[in-house]
Amino acid sequence: MTTATDNYGLPDPKELEAWALPYFPELRIPEFQKSVSVYSPVVLPATGTSNYFDVNRVRADFPILNEKVSGGKPLIWLDNGATTQKPRQVIDRISHYYEHENSNVHRGAHELAARSTDAYEKARQTVATFLGAPAKENIVFVRGTTEGVNLVAHSFVKPLLSAGDEIILTHLEHHANIVPWQILAQETGAVIKVAPVDDTGQIILSEYERLFSRNTKFASVTHVSNALGTITPIHEMIQIAHRNGVRILVDGAQSVAHTPLNVSELDVDFFVFSGHKIFAPTGIGAVYGKSDVLEQGIPYQSGGNMIRDVTFERTIYNPAPSKFEAGTGNIADAIGMGAALEYVMNLGVANIGAYEHELLDYATKELTRINGLHLIGTAKEKASALSFVLDGASVEQIGKHLSSHGIAVRAGHHCAQPILRRFGLEATVRPTIALYNTAEEIDKLVIAIRELAR
Ligand code: ALA
Repeated sequence: MTTATDNYGLPDPKELEAWALPYFPELRIPEFQKSVSVYSPVVLPATGTSNYFDVNRVRADFPILNEKVSGGKPLIWLDNGATTQKPRQVIDRISHYYEHENSNVHRGAHELAARSTDAYEKARQTVATFLGAPAKENIVFVRGTTEGVNLVAHSFVKPLLSAGDEIILTHLEHHANIVPWQILAQETGAVIKVAPVDDTGQIILSEYERLFSRNTKFASVTHVSNALGTITPIHEMIQIAHRNGVRILVDGAQSVAHTPLNVSELDVDFFVFSGHKIFAPTGIGAVYGKSDVLEQGIPYQSGGNMIRDVTFERTIYNPAPSKFEAGTGNIADAIGMGAALEYVMNLGVANIGAYEHELLDYATKELTRINGLHLIGTAKEKASALSFVLDGASVEQIGKHLSSHGIAVRAGHHCAQPILRRFGLEATVRPTIALYNTAEEIDKLVIAIRELAR
């Protein structure tokens, strides 16, 4: 790839799109992202640590990356699948909210209520822009992916179900995309069907398609497996569901920070994600829903804020998204999430994906050269995660050893027991990379693992 010089050191977005399409075939860079530049008007140095953006400049935005841990070692944060770190821009935006804007939204007739409401609704618009949604009314604020899946399950899917109906999941799902459906199945007599994966950890599309029947009422799939890093073929899976007259949810918790996406072009019915996986605070996330399904859905929680009129006999609800947002929302963190998404859009999600792709390739190559190390999840299309086990060392030992080197990874079942058991395991060690990680950090990870492998 050539690097253009007239775009603050960034490659030309159209060239980047051409590069990214083979890796992310279902995706296009939204038009608005083609015109934004990094940190405009500051010109980045011509030499950076990546072809896509200045990683050192990005690292300087994340104060916690200067932290020393384990007796003075520099922190190496490779636990991004569990949660990401927050840039100064997000931290400052939340402080600004509490210093200058704090108020409940919608209800007050005073100046701070107006400031707070404007900022909250601007954040909703930012989520819509980031996802490529038609309007901010398609975005419901929730606590995170888990609450998002529960909302869709109870508001939209449960009313569709009778005994014997079917919900299609895949073997890759996080517990958050399994347990809510099981509860619905127990309540209604519906049945869960599970699409299998091959030995690389990729969904077998022909088997997936065979699961659909006249009884299928809904499908739900992860975009990126949190345990293995597999990028699933959601474009095809959405089309298969729709050919069978079935609505589908995509769990974007592990994809939003790593792969470009556009919900309108994908034609997905629901897309859910958590802010904290994309440099925003914990306790905030979003559900995207097509307008017709949001209109059709019934409230999952109820109370204040979501009503137009209440008597003791009946309630008239507000239209979506308000209908699904009972009570006072997480206003400050929604605004913080807006700041995080602006940060990501300024860098360009395709730039981030391209940089991480190179880093993942490098890490995969280096890790597989370690004797006795077995990578779990070797699909051709992957993002962020490098799950592995090592002969002669338990995952707990490896996690503790890496921590003693200042390296944070997750060691355990990653809330995805079925897929680990598919590979005959109860746990793995899982480094997960994000935009601020570097090849030098991967080298330190590899050196530390080699000490144990000896
Ligand atoms: N879902 C998060 C993870 O994969 C917590 O670590």
